[in-house]
Amino acid sequence: MAVVLSNGANILRQHTGVIGIAYIRAANYSSEGNPYNLASLKRGTGGRSSFNGIVATVFGATGFIGRYVCNRLGKIGSQLILPYRGDHYEALRLKLVGDLGQVLFQPYYLRNEEDLEKAVKYSNVVVNLVGRDWETKNFKFDDVHVKGARALARAAKKAGVKKFIHVSALNAEKNPKPVIKSGGSKFLASKWYGECAVLEEFPEATIFRPSDVYGQEDRFLRYYAHNWRRQGLWMPLWKKGECTIKQPVFVSDLAAGIVAAIKDPDAAGKIYQAVGPKRYYLSELVDWFYRLMKKDDKWGYVRYDMRFDPFFKVKVSITEKVCPGFPIGNLHWERVEREYINDHVVHGIPTLEDLGITLTAMEDQVPWELRPYSYGIYHDRDLEEFALRPEPPKVVV
Ligand SMILES: NC(=O)c1ccc[n+]([C@@H]2O[C@H](COP(=O)([O-])OP(=O)(O)OC[C@H]3O[C@@H](n4cnc5c(N)ncnc54)[C@H](OP(=O)(O)O)[C@@H]3O)[C@@H](O)[C@H]2O)c1
Repeated sequence: MAVVLSNGANILRQHTGVIGIAYIRAANYSSEGNPYNLASLKRGTGGRSSFNGIVATVFGATGFIGRYVCNRLGKIGSQLILPYRGDHYEALRLKLVGDLGQVLFQPYYLRNEEDLEKAVKYSNVVVNLVGRDWETKNFKFDDVHVKGARALARAAKKAGVKKFIHVSALNAEKNPKPVIKSGGSKFLASKWYGECAVLEEFPEATIFRPSDVYGQEDRFLRYYAHNWRRQGLWMPLWKKGECTIKQPVFVSDLAAGIVAAIKDPDAAGKIYQAVGPKRYYLSELVDWFYRLMKKDDKWGYVRYDMRFDPFFKVKVSITEKVCPGFPIGNLHWERVEREYINDHVVHGIPTLEDLGITLTAMEDQVPWELRPYSYGIYHDRDLEEFALRPEPPKVVV
């Protein structure tokens, strides 16, 4: 029997038995007629070794979310241009997300327009994942989240890029209400101005607003698991974490949402809130993390109100001053402030589910993520004990 995939003058070779091989002219797969546009030369049937017509420049690819987005894009046969700064060995591991020749690297400087234009010149999709949780000597929030985002959007527009995906943050607003830090979160304010800047330059941009993102090498689970976040065995939280509601999202779901938006023509010009399927009190979540890590009350874990601990406040201030470039345990005032901002999901603004993503429940993923942090995991504790799942956190209804 032979399989026949015929269109026009295609060559068909018939084999005896079950397999038939059909050769199909590449141009018949093309979505565009322009033979000089690489993106129009779709080839193959999907998968890492094919070419799906997407040529994507991913800024911020070396970061936490970037790795997942690149892998998902590479997996469906996209060509990737990955601009990076600093040591190229940092970026080099991303070479494996695509087939040979599909992943290209380019050094760049965020303030250099020529670099940006060169990086987006051959692309039809640009993803902006550039961001930082704290300000450094060289780059303030405004430089990275507003001026940087604007420059990327402008370069993309100038190059005729079709899709611009910008990653902002949930709760971004012009004047965030202060909880602990005077003046409120500068990070969230800069993310709001960043969205405005991107939309001015590229009105059809798609914007994602993720809540706290968790996954391998995240800055959410690992932040609370870090020894430096605690005071000895005790965990200080603002008002014991009992007044803060969080809705964290799994990184793979966010990456899947970004890829779905790239493929969906209707996503242009829309904002998506990237949140998890359930809402929890922060107190419930942190207690549960510690139960999962076998660091429960028997171990000595106590959650208490940060307001009555001046030593914790001194510790945060010293950590910021001593290592401003990379605060130990990600402990800095901006992070502490954002910890206590309720995740506000606006009705009427679409979420990842509107992009067809099935959201991962924290209860299914977090035990695995936190397992390496379990107390006594490499010592003589009963392995069966680690398989036991402690009581999950209560959900806010
Ligand atoms: N992770 C979360 O929980 C979360 C939540 C809400 C929003 N977001 C936003 O999502 C985006 C990606 O987050 P992420 O967790 O992947 O961040 P990340 O791990 O900190 O990575 C940030 C990326 O931006 C690059 N970058 C930072 N400053 C730069 C500069 N001045 N010039 C050039 N590149 C610069 C970094 O490059 P280097 O590797 O060279 O430093 C890195 O590739 C960010 O905009 C972030 O604000 C994240």
